[in-house]
This record gives sequence, structure tokens and C-alpha cells, in this order.
Amino acid sequence: MDSERLFKRASKLFPGGVNSPVRYYAPYPRFIKRGKGAKIYDVDGNEYIDLLLAFGPMILGHANPSVVKSICERTENGTLFGAPTEEEIKLAEIIKKSSTIEMMRFVNSGSEATLHSLRLSIFFNRRKKILKVKGGYHGTHIFNYPSETVDEVDFNSIDELENKLRSREYSAFIVEPVLGNAGVINPEDGYLESVRDITSRYGTLLIIDEVITGYRTGFFPFYMRKKIEPDLVTLGKIVGGGLPLAIYGGKEDIMKNIKPSGALPQAGTYSGNPLSVVAGLETMKILEKKDYGKLEKITKKGYEILKESGLSVNIETGMLSLFLREGNVRKFSDVVNSKKEKFMNLFFKMLDAGIYLPPSYDETIFLSFSHSEKDVEYAFSSISEEARRLWKEP
Ligand SMILES: Cc1ncc(COP(=O)(O)O)c(C=O)c1O
Repeated sequence: MDSERLFKRASKLFPGGVNSPVRYYAPYPRFIKRGKGAKIYDVDGNEYIDLLLAFGPMILGHANPSVVKSICERTENGTLFGAPTEEEIKLAEIIKKSSTIEMMRFVNSGSEATLHSLRLSIFFNRRKKILKVKGGYHGTHIFNYPSETVDEVDFNSIDELENKLRSREYSAFIVEPVLGNAGVINPEDGYLESVRDITSRYGTLLIIDEVITGYRTGFFPFYMRKKIEPDLVTLGKIVGGGLPLAIYGGKEDIMKNIKPSGALPQAGTYSGNPLSVVAGLETMKILEKKDYGKLEKITKKGYEILKESGLSVNIETGMLSLFLREGNVRKFSDVVNSKKEKFMNLFFKMLDAGIYLPPSYDETIFLSFSHSEKDVEYAFSSISEEARRLWKEP
């Protein structure tokens, strides 16, 4: 098998043979050669319906012709100058128009966006600690893990949040509006609105991490549905159209503290790089005209089919999770309390059936505008049947 052979070479070069841990699965991950629309193709000659979508960015599917064209045109005219380009303004104006973000900074990854928004909150608020939720993921940096300066509370628990914030020692509370890295966990009615009220009451900045949810459920960051205004917002994945680009932004009086208008250093050779910017800009122009109702419809179809398994399923437009348990899943401990260990059996069975699931139980299944109803029917019926079989197995 070519993937097996490539993995042996890769293992001598990269820790665990990969450049990001969730890409690994034993005995070796499939190496992907190309993608088109909702399909990806590995080096071993197999075709898959892609339900991973690169962990979220590829909402238009792979190799969208207009996005490819914009990347090619940009490439022919140079890809990096260390000086501003007009396209940065065009992309930023689209973001500003469709959100509450007044001022923003482009960076290269979601991790950078959350790291710098948290640094900014500490600089602005002059308090040392950060609060996040259990099962929330914001990238691999010091603020993502509990420590002397980082505490955690349960998602959907307002009382716990208020109890913590009373001490007035937290600069920021960072939260995904829909959890996407513990499977999909939806906010309960009123949760995000209460989070806004309580954080304001105790002088803690509210950072909404929209790296997964931004422009996925409609042409806006998810929090816009709740009519609230966070202090800072992070965007990633979709806004780069499959190239590395992420954004942090929010209220102008906070953002102005970044150099050169303020004193907080934050810089990057590749920040706002022209190639990522044109891919993001073209993707956003296409999405602006898309009917998200179609994405909602196929996601609901997937949901109904998965529900037939009798197991827990959570859904938001373009994203869903099947949990190997029964009942509702509303917080991280519900996810942990499931037959998680059986997930890789499901993953491999689906791989054999030509369906590429996220290779980890905690990751979200994503759908794109390229998936057909037929893709959804086939993929989700296969998942549903196998999950039910695994669940019943002792
Ligand atoms: C909600 C959230 N925030 C931040 C990140 C980090 O983004 P990146 O992987 O681009 O660094 C991720 C990545 O999956 C994410 O899901």
C-alpha cells in the first residue's frame, strides 16, 4: 500500500509521522493525493465522500473553480511583499459589514487568532487570568490548557461562570458559541445572552471563538443570531478559503492597543498574505450569494438518518456529531461518558465503504455546499447502521 510506504518515510521525519496530531490514526493514515468537490482520493487509488473537509475550511468543497482561478492569478503576480494589498481591505470590509467587528487583524491560523486576542485582553484589562470551557478548544498554546492562569467551567452553566467571575481576576472568558471540538454541543436557549451580561457585569472581556462556526450556519458569525456583541471575535477556517488565514477583531477601543496604533506588539511575516487573502475573498464572495438553506437541508437529512440509530446526535447547519451513547449531550462530561473506544471501529468500517470521517471521536462531521443529497443518504445510512451495530455489541 502506498500510504503505508509513505508513512514509514514520514515517521522518520515528523513526530508520529504527521504535522498535526489529529491526522494520525493507527496503523497509518491514508495519504491524500487530490480532492474535487465533496470527494477526496488517496494515493492507494481509493475515493471517499469527505466528511472531514480539512477539519472545516472547505465549505465550498475541494478545488472550487473560482477559488482556484483567483489563487492562480495571484500566484502569477507574486504571492508575498511585506507590504499591504488592496484585497486585504476588500476582505476586511466584507467581514465588518456582516458582523459587529469594528477593527481587525489578519493572522495565519486560528491558534494565532485566539492567542493574540487573549494576550490583548490581558494587556487591556490588566488581569492575569483567563477562563474557558471544558472541552473547548482554541488552538495549541498556553491558554488552551488549565494552569495557574487558565481555569475552566462547564459549557451551558451560567451559575458556574458567575461564581468564577465574581473574583474579578479574569481578563477574558473565551468560548465557542457552539462547541465543535467535543463533538457538536449546542448552546441552550439564553446561554450566550447570559454570558454576555455576566462578563460585562464583572469587567471580563467576552471573546467568542468563531473559528469553526463563523460563516458556516449563515453568512455571519454564529453569535449574530443571538443579537449580542462580543468584545473580541476570532475567525478562521472558512475565511481563508482553504489557505492559512485567520482573523481576530472586535471593538475599536480594544483593537487600537495593538502596534503600531498602540503598544502591544503583534506581527507576522505571512499575516494577511496576498495568496490566502484572495482565496478567502473569493470564497466569501461566493458564500455571500449562497442559499444556506440548502446546507441546512442536507444537514437535517443527515441528522434524521443518524437519529435512526437510536443514539445521541447533535446538529448545527453544516456540522453534526453522532455520540456512542443515548440521551442528550449538553456538556463535555456527557461526551466522555460514552462508548468512545468503539469509534475507531466505525471509522475504519466507513473508510472501507468510501466515507472519510474525522479520525477522532471528538471532531465534528462537516458538510459542504458540494455534498449531494445522494452523498448524504449513502454516507449517513452507512454510519447510522454501523454505529447501531457497534452500540449493541457487548
Ligand atoms: C474553535 C477553534 N478555535 C481555534 C482553533 C485553532 O485553529 P488552527 O488549527 O487554525 O490553529 C480551532 C481548530 O480546530 C478551533 O476549532
